[in-house]
Amino acid sequence: MSFRLSTCSTSLRAPLARLTTTTTPVTRRHLSAYGYEQAKALAFTNYGEPKDVLRLHGHSISPAHKDLVTLRFLASPINPADINQIQGVYPSKPNFSTTLGAPEPTAVGGNEGVAEIISAGGSVKGFQRGDWVIMRSPGFGTWRTHAQTTTENLLKIEDKSGLTPLQAGTVSVNPCTAYRMLKDFVPLKEGDWFIQNGSNSGVGRAAIQLAKLWGYRSINIIRDRSDPSATEAMKQDLKDLGADIVLTDTEAMDKSFRNVIKEATNGGREQISLALNCVGGKLVNSMAKILADNSHIVTYGAMSREPVTVPAGLQIFKNISYDGFWVSRWSDANPEEKKKTVEHVLDLVREGKFKDTPFDEVKWEWETKGEELIKAVQGTLQGFRSGKGVFVFGRT
Ligand SMILES: NC(=O)c1ccc[n+]([C@@H]2O[C@H](COP(=O)([O-])OP(=O)(O)OC[C@H]3O[C@@H](n4cnc5c(N)ncnc54)[C@H](OP(=O)(O)O)[C@@H]3O)[C@@H](O)[C@H]2O)c1
Repeated sequence: MSFRLSTCSTSLRAPLARLTTTTTPVTRRHLSAYGYEQAKALAFTNYGEPKDVLRLHGHSISPAHKDLVTLRFLASPINPADINQIQGVYPSKPNFSTTLGAPEPTAVGGNEGVAEIISAGGSVKGFQRGDWVIMRSPGFGTWRTHAQTTTENLLKIEDKSGLTPLQAGTVSVNPCTAYRMLKDFVPLKEGDWFIQNGSNSGVGRAAIQLAKLWGYRSINIIRDRSDPSATEAMKQDLKDLGADIVLTDTEAMDKSFRNVIKEATNGGREQISLALNCVGGKLVNSMAKILADNSHIVTYGAMSREPVTVPAGLQIFKNISYDGFWVSRWSDANPEEKKKTVEHVLDLVREGKFKDTPFDEVKWEWETKGEELIKAVQGTLQGFRSGKGVFVFGRT
């Protein structure tokens, strides 16, 4: 992927930006006298902890021409994988380039988001000013006010009516992951069960809702909270979303777990043949033990950083398959299916059948300080959070 950006010096940029700023909220644009868009990006030149390597970098973008479109970002989430990518431990590498005008090759953080096209070059086809777009692949760098690219890197949201930027900006990773894992590994029918851990994650919450819509029944494992009332509130929250059963990881690792599941599944006569694993570690073995012969355990996350150990007996005698799923690879291999999946989820959102994950909105205005933005990124992998961090862009 290549970004064609022009840059100007910081000393020149700031006064020009002030001169050309208007007072209309929402539409206020930071343009220089020659139509150069003033942009800011959370960028890094080396791998490391976000607080150590990220900085807010200013640059300018030339007017869109030929096949280029200029984007203004509206909402970009802070996903766990984004942090891993900055740490240098994620398989999909960021795009380090010199096009941002920094002295060293620089990458922009963030992989997911929605942007509005604010201008399009003369040979751009099928996209126009005002369209909302999401990124076709990871590595785009979405924690930025503006970007310029060609349309092959973008998926257009065909109908943005009834959608918030937050909904459009978070559809392509978590809901798509849940959707494909429920559809592509085991042919579940109405009434069938599946089990998952990490059930309060964005993916987990999407899986609960999609399963409910499709008539599947879910057993959901969450992390125990130190405050029992907080645990109960979390259980109720997921049940309100459509979860059939919600247990804590402590309960799932207790010897009573098997009986609890037996009771819920008509004495074990209703089989469970799919498990979704966000967490890893010993919890996966507890889930594996209650699965039917020939089941699939699909690992998509490793939040505990503990490995999944595979008991030989479960493989030999029950033929349990241990699969992995990575939405980036799936999207690259299935671009049309990806578009359909995104559109289907957005239809459900519009119809009020798919609720937003709890979000922790981080406002990004033109004046917002880099430290505030970086603090929100650094907090993503720490402790229990009330919601997923999402940059919501204001007057940029
Ligand atoms: N393979 C793929 O294609 C794909 C796609 C999307 C996401 N993912 C992965 O899926 C995971 C969840 O992503 P997300 O965006 O849905 O996350 P999210 O909404 O930010 O939520 C993170 C979840 O992880 C749990 N968690 C945090 N630290 C934990 C720990 N030490 N042990 C156990 N659980 C812990 C949290 O539990 P609490 O609710 O208790 O706080 C929360 O439910 C991440 O590993 C992400 O990289 C993979």
